Amino acid sequence: MDTIGQYVPNMPVASPVPTIRELRVTDVVALADLAELLGSSETQRDWRLLFRRSPVVVIGAEEDGRIVGYAAGTVRSAFGLGTAGWVEAFGVDNAWRGRGLGRSLASALFERLRGLGAARVYSVVPLHDLVLAPFFHDLGFREEPLVCIGRTT
Ligand SMILES: CC(C)(COP(=O)(O)OP(=O)(O)OC[C@H]1O[C@@H](n2cnc3c(N)ncnc32)[C@H](O)[C@@H]1OP(=O)(O)O)[C@@H](O)C(=O)NCCC(=O)NCCS
Repeated sequence: MDTIGQYVPNMPVASPVPTIRELRVTDVVALADLAELLGSSETQRDWRLLFRRSPVVVIGAEEDGRIVGYAAGTVRSAFGLGTAGWVEAFGVDNAWRGRGLGRSLASALFERLRGLGAARVYSVVPLHDLVLAPFFHDLGFREEPLVCIGRTT
């Protein structure tokens, strides 16, 4: 009988997992491109301004040199809630959704915000958003007794 080579079991190939790293001003083009893809409003200028804030955390998930998710937060005092972390921007590429990347980015962000002295973290999400609201709720966020009010200038 011919030998046809050594038997190799049909093992599943592990899919690459994006690595999470600190982002820099040099990443603003990629950040703005991804934000646009997600229908989010942050422009290159917005990201540049965010990088200038202090303290600020901007991290991203990178796969093959491409940013496929980002999370940004500041530590500040606002709305009578004391000094706390605020999620300023958050997004995961469509192709990576539902695979735990958002959760990983969030825990990496919260860990860094905690390191900067924030015992609590807040965000603002549209009340009836069917994705962001359940996502943050799943992470343990709960409604605060605040309401958004506005008028024309
Ligand atoms: C919200 C978002 C960050 C979630 O990222 P993700 O990587 O898909 O999230 P995860 O896979 O880590 O999901 C974590 C949990 O969030 C919840 N969740 C995530 N997507 C959800 C959805 N579409 N509907 C309901 N719950 C959802 C689930 O409870 C999920 O836990 P499970 O997988 O055990 O069920 C992503 O969908 C996104 O980028 N949306 C657009 C963001 C946006 O509009 N940004 C602009 C304003 S800041």
